[in-house]
Amino acid sequence: MSLENKVAIVTGGNSGIGEAIVLALAGLGANIVIDFVVHPEATESLEQQLTKLGRKSVGVDADVSKPADLQKLVDAAVTNFGRVDIMVNNAGIETRTSVLDTTEDQYDRVLDINLKSAFFGTQIAARQMIKQGGGGRIINVTSVHEDWPMPGNTAYCLSKGGMRMLTRTAGVELAPHGILVTGVGPGAVATPINLGTMNDPALLAKLDAAIPIGRMAKPEEIANVVAFLAGDGASYLTATTIFADGGIMQSSVGL
Ligand code: BGC
Repeated sequence: MSLENKVAIVTGGNSGIGEAIVLALAGLGANIVIDFVVHPEATESLEQQLTKLGRKSVGVDADVSKPADLQKLVDAAVTNFGRVDIMVNNAGIETRTSVLDTTEDQYDRVLDINLKSAFFGTQIAARQMIKQGGGGRIINVTSVHEDWPMPGNTAYCLSKGGMRMLTRTAGVELAPHGILVTGVGPGAVATPINLGTMNDPALLAKLDAAIPIGRMAKPEEIANVVAFLAGDGASYLTATTIFADGGIMQSSVGL
């Protein structure tokens, strides 16, 4: 599979799953636009890795919860590489707060960074894909929690549930333009978002025991699915989510 000459934007691309997605897409030949907000140095070091791979990349100072900044990412892709073929709406945060204790500020931040950014990222990328012609791929990195409650992480679940319906509805709306919209729903992945669990051996053992495969995913194991969805092999997939969760959603003790 090759993504030679393709141009991708990866939001949240300088850490965690996003960084692995950048490396996977670049490894297959794509040139990449990566945003940064608080860590320009992380984007810069990733850009240096891409240069070594022989790929081009550009880092853009962008707050993805703002449509104007998402437009900056698309404009950077067009200015530097002439087009946008793949939009990966990956940026995400969680507050691990319940319906009883989530503040308005926490609610807004989670919904803005996770869902609003994916909605407008989809809209702005799709407009460019339609303008340039030839279709495109929009890939939303959601979670098992687009469909599966996580008590104590309510706003996060809401945002991912919204991304589930964004994937389905935009997938239907954009199919006539040759734009395929899919989701990847990871389970627990060894990234900064899960540091609290990873640093607590008892909690980590409990989590591992709940996963049929018996361990968290490596970021690359999620990025590989995104790379597949970006490529020719996924030409008949749209408006749906692939769960890469080690079986956690189906886990059963058989009682
Ligand atoms: C959440 C993690 C959680 C994992 C499995 C992820 O989407 O970000 O906090 O551990 O799902 O439940």
